[in-house]
Amino acid sequence: MREVKYIFLILFATMAFLSLASVTMALEKCVICHGKHDLVRTEETGRQVSLFVPDSALANTVHADRECTDCHDDIVEIPHQKPAKVNCRRCHYTGNPLGAPGGEIGDQYEHSVHGIEVLAGNEKAPVCADCHGTHDIYSPSKKESTVYKQNSPRTCGKCHIDVYATYRESIHGTALADGILDSPDCVSCHGEHNISRHSDADSKVIGSAIVKTCSECHNSVGVASKYGIKSDRVSTVEHSFHGVATEIGNQTVANCASCHDYHDIRPSSDPKSAIHPDNIMATCGRTECHPEATLRFASGQIHIDPMSEESGILYYITKFFTILTVSTLVGLLLLILMDLYRRAKTARDKRKR
Ligand code: HEC
Ligand code: HEC
Ligand code: HEC
Ligand code: HEC
Ligand code: HEC
Ligand code: HEC
Ligand code: HEC
Ligand code: HEC
Repeated sequence: MREVKYIFLILFATMAFLSLASVTMALEKCVICHGKHDLVRTEETGRQVSLFVPDSALANTVHADRECTDCHDDIVEIPHQKPAKVNCRRCHYTGNPLGAPGGEIGDQYEHSVHGIEVLAGNEKAPVCADCHGTHDIYSPSKKESTVYKQNSPRTCGKCHIDVYATYRESIHGTALADGILDSPDCVSCHGEHNISRHSDADSKVIGSAIVKTCSECHNSVGVASKYGIKSDRVSTVEHSFHGVATEIGNQTVANCASCHDYHDIRPSSDPKSAIHPDNIMATCGRTECHPEATLRFASGQIHIDPMSEESGILYYITKFFTILTVSTLVGLLLLILMDLYRRAKTARDKRKR
């Protein structure tokens, strides 16, 4: 009989222990409820939002080592209250003990057009998860990532639909889609966490900064020769009137984008290109630039390299002045040498006497 009593006591103790433990078990095992396909939340509009998040949701992602409550940190008991939005910066800050990268990102984002809009209450502006995803977050270098170079234009395009539609048809958009990773995505021209309004002084695409942004690639002989693009496009603009005036700070003068457009950039051979021979007059003749533009005016070469024979008369003028300068210098040098020789000879003759 005594043995039976003991067995009951042990059984009771074990059950008590198990029921206590079950609270923490439940916290880890969010999937007991969220692992069910039919768990939904019904919005006021009647729309149903799936709350299905399987155990494997984080497997193979950058956050595979994180627990559910590392991010949903305000869930401390089951059943739980409606949790607050996840704060990615809880871990992603400079000097965090977990080694989460990108500590500077939070500050950059806060000062970007998107961060400012979110803070001002614009619900359409993106928070971290709108660009990166929620559970399905991968390193940007992985093809699965929403911000992998070939995927990122579509991610921005979720909200910037018109821009994306235009970009997708441009030389840069089609080249990137074809796997030419040297071609710019939105981020190459605008930045990622530090995106400014295009009219802000620190924007990468404001008039005075555009030449630098396009030059990051078009100045690079590597990129240019790889894709058979003329590689001297930047230095030739810098030599031209347009380039010098931009450097001096004239905001109204033409920069790369005034002539080439910016989202709709196409090769000159494309009839839809702003620099196609049929359209170039309209492009130069925009009212704010050269309203008086004539065909002869517009057919003047834009990317002038005085060192290239293609530049016609300019090439020969440059060549003429180069020859003139060199021959003058050589003549002068000869004169000086002859003069020195004469002086030395006179001095020697004097000493002999
Ligand atoms: C007992 C079942 C149950 C457990 C266990 C549970 N949840 Fe929930 N959870 C729910 C239900 C039901 C809702 C929807 C409530 C509503 O309708 O707003 C919900 C909502 C949520 C939401 C908000 C979804 C949204 O968009 O509104 C998050 C995030 C969440 N749970 C995370 C967790 C995490 C993390 C755990 C584990 C620590 C967990 N849940 C454990 C039942 C559960
Ligand atoms: C890296 C951080 C992170 C981790 C780890 C994480 N979540 Fe989430 N979860 C989010 C974000 C971000 C959202 C989007 C809503 C928000 O911002 O709060 C979200 C949303 C949810 C939702 C709402 C439905 C949905 O899919 O949008 C549920 C339910 C949920 N999480 C459950 C879980 C469960 C269960 C786990 C563990 C398996 C987990 N979460 C782990 C970041 C995380
Ligand atoms: C609980 C801490 C924690 C939270 C919260 C968190 N992360 Fe992370 N995150 C990490 C850690 C740690 C790593 C590094 C993982 C590794 O390299 O193994 C990481 C890596 C990343 C990476 C990959 C970086 C790279 O270069 O490979 C991205 C992107 C990322 N997190 C985005 C987010 C976003 C977006 C959120 C919010 C939805 C978020 N994280 C919330 C801890 C966190
Ligand atoms: C407008 C979209 C957008 C938003 C909003 C955004 N990111 Fe990013 N993020 C990107 C893009 C694009 C990249 C990839 C850049 C690249 O390819 O190098 C990136 C890269 C990252 C990386 C990897 C960089 C590294 O140094 O390893 C981390 C971590 C990250 N973001 C975290 C965050 C966090 C945290 C937030 C919120 C404070 C956030 N991001 C908000 C678009 C965004
Ligand atoms: C080759 C460089 C380049 C690429 C690639 C690019 N942009 Fe732009 N973007 C610009 C320039 C330059 C301007 C400023 C035009 C101006 O001054 O009016 C601009 C302006 C904008 C504007 C504000 C003005 C407007 O026209 O709406 C938005 C929004 C924008 N870009 C989003 C995007 C998105 C989204 C993508 C990718 C789908 C993208 N951009 C790709 C160069 C670029
Ligand atoms: C969740 C939606 C959303 C996503 C995703 C998003 N944006 Fe935005 N973006 C906005 C909103 C909203 C504004 C503010 C628009 C306004 O007030 O004019 C904005 C503003 C901008 C501006 C400034 C526009 C101007 O007037 O000069 C640029 C540039 C821009 N976004 C580029 C990007 C790029 C590049 C990406 C992808 C890396 C991106 N956005 C992803 C919603 C989004
Ligand atoms: C990230 C690098 C990068 C940036 C930034 C960039 N481009 Fe490009 N661009 C390329 C590449 C690569 C190609 C070639 C694509 C192809 O033909 O396959 C190209 C093609 C072109 C072409 C067509 C050339 C031809 O011969 O077909 C023009 C015009 C052009 N870019 C102008 C611009 C202008 C203007 C800007 C700035 C507003 C700019 N690009 C910014 C990389 C870049
Ligand atoms: C004043 C207008 C103007 C400006 C400013 C300008 N371009 Fe051009 N660009 C043209 C015209 C017109 C052509 C086609 C004829 C030619 O090759 O000279 C051209 C051709 C090109 C080509 C070869 C494309 C092809 O299909 O032949 C590239 C690449 C290019 N420009 C890049 C740039 C870059 C980068 C900048 C800024 C540093 C810039 N351009 C500034 C008008 C301009």
